Amino acid sequence: MFDRSSVIIRDSSKLMYDYVPQVLPHREDQMKGLERLFRPMVTNGQPCSAFLYGGVGTGKTATAKRFCEDMTKYCASNSKQMDSLLINCRIKNTEHSALLQMVRHFDPGYPERGFSAEEMFRSFRAHIEKRSRPFVLILDEVDNLLKNNSENIIYKLTRINEDLKASSISIIMISQFSIADVLDEASMSTFKRANTIVFERYTAPFLRDILKQRIDEALLPDTVGEEELDLMTEIGSQFGDARFGIEIIEKSAMIAEEEETGRITADNIRTAGAMIYSGVSESKLKELDLNHKLALLAVSRALKGNAFVNINAAEKTYAIVCEEYGQAARKHTQFWSYIRDMERNGILATELRSEIETGRVTFITIPDIPPKELAKKLEYLLELPQLTDDVEW
Ligand SMILES: Nc1ncnc2c1ncn2[C@@H]1O[C@H](COP(=O)(O)OP(=O)(O)O)[C@@H](O)[C@H]1O
Ligand SMILES: [Mg+2]
Repeated sequence: MFDRSSVIIRDSSKLMYDYVPQVLPHREDQMKGLERLFRPMVTNGQPCSAFLYGGVGTGKTATAKRFCEDMTKYCASNSKQMDSLLINCRIKNTEHSALLQMVRHFDPGYPERGFSAEEMFRSFRAHIEKRSRPFVLILDEVDNLLKNNSENIIYKLTRINEDLKASSISIIMISQFSIADVLDEASMSTFKRANTIVFERYTAPFLRDILKQRIDEALLPDTVGEEELDLMTEIGSQFGDARFGIEIIEKSAMIAEEEETGRITADNIRTAGAMIYSGVSESKLKELDLNHKLALLAVSRALKGNAFVNINAAEKTYAIVCEEYGQAARKHTQFWSYIRDMERNGILATELRSEIETGRVTFITIPDIPPKELAKKLEYLLELPQLTDDVEW
């Protein structure tokens, strides 16, 4: 039953979510930016930092991983050593679980319970000191960690450098939210705003190149025609999200594999797109924190069946929604930043219009889900306990 040879897929591991290609098309500027920021570390062992900011599926995690791997190789070829570790803060979302992973990087048998944060911190520091080489810590989706009052972990980490000699700790933070939303003023000044590297959503031609590269690596030759690639790009670029595009390759390849025609057809792609679509919107919503969910609920209610709503009207509804859920409504600028974050994420879109009486006004629309449906989903998600507990998967 397993011996039939595959007619579409050459190497399915190239479609896995954690596979990182040797070269990331259209992330050259971000790689160069990281290179510029980390030059002092590579040449003199000095601590460096970067904040990677952009929507889901814009290649933040992949770029950080590729950069650290390439930098490690570069160092090795110049007889230097460095070390790096990525922590997924969506999973390690407490100070304890993040510290545990950091200590276990050096000491895999370190017990889960029985040590205070202070003691774990000291062990981590001792390991860093002993290894006498630069260490890069990647805190991916760092907002999940900082939300749980772990802000001083960043502060403490940067302070360690003051009395390290042959070692240093550099930090790469990654978030879909802006640095001002993630860090408090004190941490932000130690971290330097200027070190932000922005990841824009992919335009259709960019996404096409990314999908083409992945198809060449993962599928057999001549299984996807030019028009079929265009269709994948068109569906994928509604989100500007490479993850979604790669999932379309994977699902449509699996469907085509069953049909044994030896090619991926347009219908295979449409079926794959429809299968993934509802999942994507749901997972994006789940990723939003309480404040963003409330703002989005306000927008979806304020739309009332219209295509667009004036941002000021949405903000009024936002105040009512916050009251309903017993939350203090955030300030005007904060509300705007929520809207901008969700626009980056492809959940909503905005448009600037000129009106004779009021001048330029921002209008908001939700392109992909009927607002009523969206409101229902959000109301359901807001009923659930918000994820803050210390779960390890
Ligand atoms: N420029 C790119 N070239 C090749 N693959 C990419 C590129 N950008 C993203 N990907 C792929 O798309 C998926 C999502 O990227 P990821 O880095 O996880 O996004 P983010 O961390 O911004 O949500 C991953 O499988 C990644 O390898
Ligand atoms: Mg990521």
